[in-house]
Amino acid sequence: MPHTLKDVLPVTARVNDAGHLEVGGCDTCDLAAEFGTPLYVFDEATFRTRARELRGAFPEASLYFAAKACPALAVLQLAAAEGLGVDVASAGEMHAALAARVPPARMTLHGNNKADADIVRAVAVGLGRIAVDNFDDIDRVAAAAAEAGRRQAILLRVTPGVEAHTHTHIQTGQADSKFGLSIEAGLAMSGVERADAYDTLDLVGIHAHIGSNIFSYDPFGKTVEILFDFLADVEKVLGLTVEEVNLGGGLGIPYVAGDFPIRLDLLAKLIAETAEQEAARHAIPVPRLAFEPGRFLVGNAMVTLYSVGVVKEIPGMRTYVSVDGGMSDNIRPALYQARYAALLANKALEEPGRTVTVAGMHCESGDILVRDVGLPASVRRGDVLAVPATGAYGYSMASNYNRQPRSAVVLVRDGAAHTIVRRESLEDLLRLESPLP
Ligand code: LLP
Repeated sequence: MPHTLKDVLPVTARVNDAGHLEVGGCDTCDLAAEFGTPLYVFDEATFRTRARELRGAFPEASLYFAAKACPALAVLQLAAAEGLGVDVASAGEMHAALAARVPPARMTLHGNNKADADIVRAVAVGLGRIAVDNFDDIDRVAAAAAEAGRRQAILLRVTPGVEAHTHTHIQTGQADSKFGLSIEAGLAMSGVERADAYDTLDLVGIHAHIGSNIFSYDPFGKTVEILFDFLADVEKVLGLTVEEVNLGGGLGIPYVAGDFPIRLDLLAKLIAETAEQEAARHAIPVPRLAFEPGRFLVGNAMVTLYSVGVVKEIPGMRTYVSVDGGMSDNIRPALYQARYAALLANKALEEPGRTVTVAGMHCESGDILVRDVGLPASVRRGDVLAVPATGAYGYSMASNYNRQPRSAVVLVRDGAAHTIVRRESLEDLLRLESPLP
């Protein structure tokens, strides 16, 4: 069934007696007044619910949270508390996950151009997996492991040649990609051979991430088929059995009413059946599966609150409702033409009465958050506008464009709000700078 606005909002969202949007037991209008706007509101219960749904769908799999979607320390701690590992894709994310006390053994380091120092640190702290992305990585991880006097478990990132039906900027499975070693072009097989030649490397698995915000099942089934064909080839050609297949992340989520994202139970069934069938067909053991979604876990856990400022009606054309944030706190509409819902948190029971376009405060015409959305006809300065489903790649891709201080993140739980990332001040904006010498 297509989703409704309720599915887009956090699981604890409701309209309270005052007619206000409530999340995590907190009145969002009170949150806006107390913490200021723009404000990211993160609902702990939604994250925990999604983590448990994931575990329920894949009881035997290794599950990781892709930190890049929302790498706040408290969120990484929540991931660990829910028994998830963490996938990190940079020195900064690795640093944050270590600071959050995620056990290093439950972390995977990704990246198509890892710095030497990051590889050395990953080996030194005992990262559970390093996903080698190219031949360079294989040689450098092997050298770092030799230097540290230990063996390092690696995954070989491959590109299966699957085109996921999503925005081209977030497709990654096709052969012509900066990520991974192409199976089709023979690079993946050479990679296995090269890794196997090093005593200091333990090739525990292969990894493929075909894209992000995927709304259909078939690319995942197709990926399993291609990866298992490859595993069978590896076994035939090199006599090696690979134990783990990491299918990356990529699960789509509902952003607006009417979205029709993947059902986790159906996806799990398809993957399990395809894996069984392909393993049997090739007479190879069924490898352990691993997943590392980001968006699925955090996307619907957050709403962003803004204050409405200027309302400008261009007769016969369009009404712009401008808010106090925009592309600095959510670049996704500008970058991917991403669609979002919007509602007035202080008038949550009022029916939509006019169609408006929600614009940000930045100096760009492209700084539009939501195009053509129905809001109460009474929309005016001072209203609190809530944009749901901003938990993935909102905070993590925030910028200081126009010297906009980055917004605070508050975590809500059982009627209490906790600042997990404080708002930047104007002083913070200049903290790294020196005057003209
Ligand atoms: N694993 C790997 C290796 C990845 O590259 C990614 C995302 C994930 C897991 C998590 O994917 P997810 O489950 O969140 O789809 N900024 C874009 C998304 C870029 C995703 C990059 N890699 C956006 O805002 O849509």
